[in-house]
Amino acid sequence: MSESLTSAYASPEEREAEASVRPRSLDELVGQDRVREQLELLLHSALRRGAPPDHILLSGSPGLGKTTMAMIVAGELGVGLRITSGPAIERAGDLAAVLTSIGPGDVLFIDEIHRMARPAEELLYSAMEDFRVDVVVGKGPGATAIPIDLEPFTLVGATTRAGLLTGPMRDRFGFVGHLEFYEPAELERIVRRSARILGVPITDDGAAEVAGRSRGTPRIANRLLRRVRDYAEVRADGVVTGDAARAALRVYDVDERGLDRLDRAVLKALVESFGGGPVGLSTLAVAVGEQPDTVEEVCEPFLLREGLLARTPRGRVATAGAWRHLGKTPPPGAVGTTPDLFSVEP
Ligand SMILES: Nc1ncnc2c1ncn2[C@@H]1O[C@H](COP(=O)(O)OP(=O)(O)OP(=O)(O)O)[C@@H](O)[C@H]1O
Ligand SMILES: [Mg+2]
Repeated sequence: MSESLTSAYASPEEREAEASVRPRSLDELVGQDRVREQLELLLHSALRRGAPPDHILLSGSPGLGKTTMAMIVAGELGVGLRITSGPAIERAGDLAAVLTSIGPGDVLFIDEIHRMARPAEELLYSAMEDFRVDVVVGKGPGATAIPIDLEPFTLVGATTRAGLLTGPMRDRFGFVGHLEFYEPAELERIVRRSARILGVPITDDGAAEVAGRSRGTPRIANRLLRRVRDYAEVRADGVVTGDAARAALRVYDVDERGLDRLDRAVLKALVESFGGGPVGLSTLAVAVGEQPDTVEEVCEPFLLREGLLARTPRGRVATAGAWRHLGKTPPPGAVGTTPDLFSVEP
C-alpha cells in the first residue's frame, strides 16, 4: 500500500526522510488554524501556571500532522518526549514500565492509541487521572496490587480512527483536536517551505502544481515534491517549474487532481463498462483486477471525498464530476447533474 505515490501511509524509510522537513514549532506549522490556536492557548496557559496541560488527543487521517504536533507540544513546553504506540503495548506491564520511567512534566506520545490492548488501556485510565498506577505482582490468589505514584505528565494520543476509541478513554482527554485535510493554498506553502529546506529551487506554478495533486495531505505533497525534484534534476535544469511537475507526475501516473492509475481505472470501469453504475463493490473490483478491500479502503475514500464517486444502496455510482473528469458528458440522470441542495457537485 505504501508503495503508491498517492498513498497517505508512509514506509519506515519515508518516515525518516520526513524528519528533515517536519515543522518544529507552532509558528512553523502551516494550516490547521483552529487546532493550532487551541493548542497555543492550552500550552501557553500551562506554561504560565507551571503545570502540565491536560491530556491531548489528536485525530485525523494519515499524513496530516499528528506526530508533528505531538513533537511540537513537547518542544513548546520544553520537556522530554517519550514515543510509543498502541500496537507496541501488548501487556499492562509494558505500559507500566514506560509510565514509571518518564520525567516530571514530560510528554508521553502514544501513536495509534486505539490499538492498545484492553488491560493496558485500563492501567492508563488511573495514570491519566491520578498519576498513579496499581502494578499487580504475582498471579492467582497471592497476587497483590502495589500502588506506584507517577510524575505528572501529559499524554498525547494520536488516532486515525477516533470512532474506535472507547468512551472512557476519550473522556480522559481534556483536549481533542481534529485535523482536517489541507487547502491547496496551504499545501503550496508547505511545498515551498519543504523545497527551501531541501535546497530545491521551485517556482510558484511548480509549487501549485504539486500542491494540487497532493490530495489535501502534507505527506503526499512532500513525497511528490521529492519525485518532481528527481525529474527536474535528471531531465531538466533542476528547477521545479510547473512544466517539470506536470511532466514528472505524468511519468508517475498522478493526474492533475491527484488521482493515480487505480483511481482512474475504477472511474473508467464505472463509466465505460457499467454506464455509470450502480454496480456492486465486488463486480467493480473484478473489473479493475483488484481485491474488493483495496478498492474500498485505498481508492474509495478519496474518490468519495472528491465527489467523483457515490455510494447508494444498490452499489457504487459515478457522479457527473467523474464523467467530466474523464472528458465525457454526464448522462442526464448522473448524481450531481441536478443543482439541488443535496447534490454532490454544485
Ligand atoms: N501543518 C503542517 N505543516 C507543514 N508540514 C506538515 C504539517 N503537517 C504535516 N506535515 C508534514 O507531513 C509529514 C507527515 O506528518 P505526520 O508524520 O505528522 O503525520 P501523521 O498525522 O502523524 O501521520 P500517520 O497517521 O501516518 O502517523 C511530516 O513529515 C511533515 O513534514
Ligand atoms: Mg504519525
